[in-house]
Amino acid sequence: MEIFQSQVTLIQEKTTALDLMHSKLEQASLSGDEDAFYVADLGDIVKKHLRWTTALPRVQPFYAVKCNPMEAVVQTLARLGAGFDCASQVELELVRGMGVLPERIIYANPCKQTSHIKKAASLGVHTMTFDNEEELIKVARAHPNAKMVLRIATADSGSMFPISIKFGASLEECGHLLKVARELGVEVIGVSFHVGSNSSDPHCFSESIANARGVFDLGADLGHEMTLLDIGGGFPGSDDFIVTFEEIAKVINQSLEVHFPAESGVNIIAEPGRYYVATAFTLAVNIIGKKCLPWNKDTFRGEECAKSVKYYINDGGFGSFADIFHCYFNQKAVPYKQSVGQPLYSSSVWGPTCTAEDLVSNQTELPELQVGDWLIFENMGAYTVSQGTNFNGFSIPRVHFCISSSLPLDFGDENVCCLAVTALEDSVVEGCLIMK
Ligand SMILES: Cc1ncc(COP(=O)(O)O)c(C=O)c1O
Repeated sequence: MEIFQSQVTLIQEKTTALDLMHSKLEQASLSGDEDAFYVADLGDIVKKHLRWTTALPRVQPFYAVKCNPMEAVVQTLARLGAGFDCASQVELELVRGMGVLPERIIYANPCKQTSHIKKAASLGVHTMTFDNEEELIKVARAHPNAKMVLRIATADSGSMFPISIKFGASLEECGHLLKVARELGVEVIGVSFHVGSNSSDPHCFSESIANARGVFDLGADLGHEMTLLDIGGGFPGSDDFIVTFEEIAKVINQSLEVHFPAESGVNIIAEPGRYYVATAFTLAVNIIGKKCLPWNKDTFRGEECAKSVKYYINDGGFGSFADIFHCYFNQKAVPYKQSVGQPLYSSSVWGPTCTAEDLVSNQTELPELQVGDWLIFENMGAYTVSQGTNFNGFSIPRVHFCISSSLPLDFGDENVCCLAVTALEDSVVEGCLIMK
């Protein structure tokens, strides 16, 4: 796994990450630098954590590393006391390498390579998910001390990225799987589910929590000591989504109260990914090419475009936009310098590679822009740096980390900032910290 390193700037009070991006864009205009880049605000992650603990006090977050495995992100969350959901040996090694205790890690991949299961055992990570009999047979041989969590399928059609088509045992299968586990001597300690990423239906959580209760009872009847409920990920990353995080949290709390009240003694965890990092990252890309349609000799000479414009940018569907690209999402581009009242044109925005699928935004209204202008994309922290490829020789843009200090006052700005800064001082790169 490539770990990206960058400089960290502690932003002055009343300055935002967007201000930092603007100053970087001014510098780039002067120096002629045209490479795409991110500004990532670790303070935003801290704020999300405070919001989580307020809205879901009974649910311990185990951050889904796959969503954004950058060291600065993982370190910040580790220092905040979060746990981690790892899906592979590399992710397990990354998190354990940062000193996170095995008890704060769940290996949440229901179908694992045997050597990765053995690696988890040697790293002391015992808690892991399964949804099929073969997995139990592998685990019985490779990691006899494992504490298994049965992943159940959900009705996840309301999510932007459903997952139950691939993972999760049906409720009918659960009794059989729990019996097989007993026969093999494999301990099952709980139930997990995932409602699909960016879920728009909070009731999918309540339904799954009720289903999990049924599986807990089944497990207990078969002699398993069931103590862990894992409600997975799927929480929205930004507040402009159909449903807010707090609305979902309310439904979850009510449902937990009914099916897993505090006196049940069951530990509740979740595996949020997108929620923690989406808004922390903002991306600036440079327009490297442009075509006006339909072509005529006036538009070729740089006159105003007649009908619509195709823009080509230096990051795309095989880079930071891989997640969006897979579901044919229209990502909103905002020009860096936009004057009020400029006419808007129907435009499309394309990535830099040589395939026609590399489309970032199919239909968007933009003022006429020129090659060399910048576009800004917000909410770019989830499944961006982690999903991008080097296809056609293009790489993921560099990330400039910063820590905004506009954190809730009752937590004390300085302390929270120091927390994140300390996390980075412990990271492997010397001199990565710049305080302004
Ligand atoms: C098992 C598991 N947990 C957690 C997540 C994180 O989901 P999200 O980013 O929607 O919170 C995923 C995403 O694919 C997942 O597969």
